[in-house]
Amino acid sequence: MTDTILDPAFLQPVRLSPDGRVLQLLDQRALPAREIWLELREVEAVAQAIESLAVRGAPAIGCAAALGLAAGSWGFPEATGPWREAAAQAIERLARTRPTAVNLFHALAHMRAALALAVGDAAALRAALRQAALVYVAGELQACVRMGEFGGPLLPEGTILTHCNTGALATAGWGTALGVIRRAHQLGRDIRVLADETRPVLQGARLTAWELQRDGIPVEVIADNMAGALMSRGQIQAAIVGADRITRRGDVANKIGTYTVAVLCRHHNIPFFVAAPWSTIDLEMESGAEIPIEARDLDEVHLHGGVRMTPAGVGARNPAFDVTPAELVTAIITERGVFRPDELAAAAAAAK
Ligand code: MRU
Repeated sequence: MTDTILDPAFLQPVRLSPDGRVLQLLDQRALPAREIWLELREVEAVAQAIESLAVRGAPAIGCAAALGLAAGSWGFPEATGPWREAAAQAIERLARTRPTAVNLFHALAHMRAALALAVGDAAALRAALRQAALVYVAGELQACVRMGEFGGPLLPEGTILTHCNTGALATAGWGTALGVIRRAHQLGRDIRVLADETRPVLQGARLTAWELQRDGIPVEVIADNMAGALMSRGQIQAAIVGADRITRRGDVANKIGTYTVAVLCRHHNIPFFVAAPWSTIDLEMESGAEIPIEARDLDEVHLHGGVRMTPAGVGARNPAFDVTPAELVTAIITERGVFRPDELAAAAAAAK
């Protein structure tokens, strides 16, 4: 860990209690108005926290699942056979929470593999899960820091547009796209951030603005429909976003609205960067058309601040993610380096 670049006020929003029995989560639904820490002991509660967006962001979902499984395993039966059966069911339950972010399945595969190798009584299996979860989270954090090292110097000076929230809240800490922005700021680059508000759940307005303000990085919020006009007036120099899944050919699934930003960037000849840990790349999937896109509750669209904005009886649509084709992506920043989308498959083969 190159902890020299981590901020002293480092935010770790998904963590295990010191005794390993409790998953502690900073409840993202309450931000920025209130900072509420949830204490979760059971896998079902962890699954519901992921589904309800108390914890969200692809890497953070994976971390919550791994740590939540470790914490929840204290409630499994003591005999080894039933214990393993309970663990398998818990992994199945967590896998059903959100379909798009591949990091969740990556984290659960990591935990399943650790369990398969573990031997001994329930206490030994619990210890193996805890160790595996902590290793997973440490790896994710290190990946964010490395992405910042690679990506920070790439960002041009000026105004950087970002979409959704990709910061400490969405990861094991530090952030993917926001980690790159943080690093650029640390390096003294003269940047300011425009955060798309990111309807319908407002991750940009609520969470990205909260994180950047906390860090003292200049930030302003814009409604999602403003970016094009600002680009046409030369007021945006680059865009950087995270990803929930990147396919072998470099298609990028990310928060709904990302595709629109990428199209606008191409039209205005502005670089469009994606920052994501290698665990976000799904090498088994070739095209973005194969990525399962989560459809969320329509009330997220109908309501704003709890108040209904649409006439009763009118329908809505709420796909939570879109897919940006590889052709619109300038570069993908990972902890292994910076790649053009068409270089990913070769980079994966070279790493084997
Ligand atoms: O529905 P969410 O809030 O979990 O969606 C999050 C995003 O789309 C993020 O941009 C993505 O997970 C990258 S986070 C580092």
